[in-house]
Amino acid sequence: MKYLWENNKELVNQLQRESKLFHSSIHGFKHWRTVEKNGLYLSQFNGGDPLVISHFAYFHDCMRVNEHRDDGHGLRGGKYALKNKDILELNEHQLDLLYKACTGHTGGRNPSCDTIACCWDADRLDIIRVDAKPDLQWYNTDVARDMVIKNDFTPIDN
Ligand SMILES: [Fe+2]
Repeated sequence: MKYLWENNKELVNQLQRESKLFHSSIHGFKHWRTVEKNGLYLSQFNGGDPLVISHFAYFHDCMRVNEHRDDGHGLRGGKYALKNKDILELNEHQLDLLYKACTGHTGGRNPSCDTIACCWDADRLDIIRVDAKPDLQWYNTDVARDMVIKNDFTPIDN
């Protein structure tokens, strides 16, 4: 199966128990699935690692405690992922990328590799869910930038 939520039910069940906003439509499971879908799409066009991107989707916001400005939630999500590495099928390098992607996802610029660029763009492309207009300065991959410039998001529409 293509998506991590289908392949790692143990992870999903654990997040359902431990993530405060799991059921939130803004920062919860629904958003995470969209981020995974967006990220896997973007990874087709650069060297992004799909497995890391899928994991980013479920960890980056999982330790949020509110829906607004929540300082440190990326760092908490990254640490939570490392703490749970035994239920993830990632090697040390992939875990390191996952941690960095989570930690820097809020306001991060100049991603150090294609994988992190896909993660951040995938999250930021879902800004449309809160009716905000994407701002080109926050996008790093060519494909996401092209969608923002053309204001055409049909490639990632459901
Ligand atoms: Fe997010």
